[in-house]
Amino acid sequence: MRRAVITAVGAYLPEKRLTNADLEKLVETSDEWIVERTGIRERRILGRGKGSAYMAIKAAEEALRKRGLPAEEIDLVIVATVTPEHPFPATANIVANAIGAHRAWGFDLEAACSSFLYGLSIAADSIAAGRVERALVIGSDKMSSIIDYRDRATCVLFGDGAGAVLLEPTTEDVGVMDYLHQADGSGCAYLHMKAGGSVLPPSVRTVRERLHYVYQEGRQVFKHAVVQMAAVSEALMQKHGLTAEDIAFFVPHQANRRIIEAAAERLRFPMEKVMINIERYGNTTSATLPLCLYDYESQLKKGDNLILATFGGGFTWGALWLRWGY
Ligand code: ACO
Repeated sequence: MRRAVITAVGAYLPEKRLTNADLEKLVETSDEWIVERTGIRERRILGRGKGSAYMAIKAAEEALRKRGLPAEEIDLVIVATVTPEHPFPATANIVANAIGAHRAWGFDLEAACSSFLYGLSIAADSIAAGRVERALVIGSDKMSSIIDYRDRATCVLFGDGAGAVLLEPTTEDVGVMDYLHQADGSGCAYLHMKAGGSVLPPSVRTVRERLHYVYQEGRQVFKHAVVQMAAVSEALMQKHGLTAEDIAFFVPHQANRRIIEAAAERLRFPMEKVMINIERYGNTTSATLPLCLYDYESQLKKGDNLILATFGGGFTWGALWLRWGY
């Protein structure tokens, strides 16, 4: 049976750090509140003049370098992002051109924080079907470009970063085994960006009224995130007769340490089996999952079962069973 397997992971994080102490100078908050309510201590900030493509290129180049694969071998590039380089063309096209993936087609995929997991699923299916040989799936978000640094309820949560995975075909019993995804558009009310799209294009008024930033009703999102991320992971595991003992690592979207802990508890995963790096990067939206794989890469062995899970704007959520391939 042909499947897609991850054969390399790359990452890019901007050097500039925005600590909780820095945020204390911008808004009415405290290091204590942020750590207790979110688990975040610092995040990275890309700064002006560079966008999501810059970080995606760096992450993709590292993945290719680690595998020793020339970019011409890539057939498909998917960039998962809510902060594309431009409204169009796709960031994926800019990235493919910059890295020299001249044979590749590609597109951006936007499903808020679930973008990367959805992109990984689509790319894996394309490879499993034999239509594509090698694909890059990159999660890259410059969240600082859509965050209101006067809104203490959102500005403490997000950071910038990118992670990339290289997918190749395999006939071994490893790779992307299965996934379950769901969406509920009624969640739009609780997590969205009000202006900048076709219904409310940018204008002096939208800028003046600060409508180009993430709007979030945190408590509502929190509740749904815990319940749905755990439920979809459990459904996927049950479908395949998997228990917590069979799983080497639970890899949850990094939105809030409390969401991660609550979901892990529902699934009966001990915390040593849960990938967490939110304290250093915050919520990097599309980049959280590949950044987790990158940070824990040295602890993974061939054949390890991983459950990746996500929840984000839309609402969108899902879980993917991955068997590590190297
Ligand atoms: N510092 C100090 N106080 C704060 C801060 C802050 N940075 N932010 C909010 N508060 C205050 C609020 O004003 C409120 O005060 P009040 O009680 O006087 O009204 C109090 O703290 C509690 O506010 P809550 O919103 O109830 O706090 P909560 O414990 O829910 O934490 C948070 C807020 C961190 C946003 C949490 O709800 C959360 O993580 N939500 C989910 C985020 C998420 O998963 N997003 C999805 C992915 S994002 C995407 O898809 C793009």
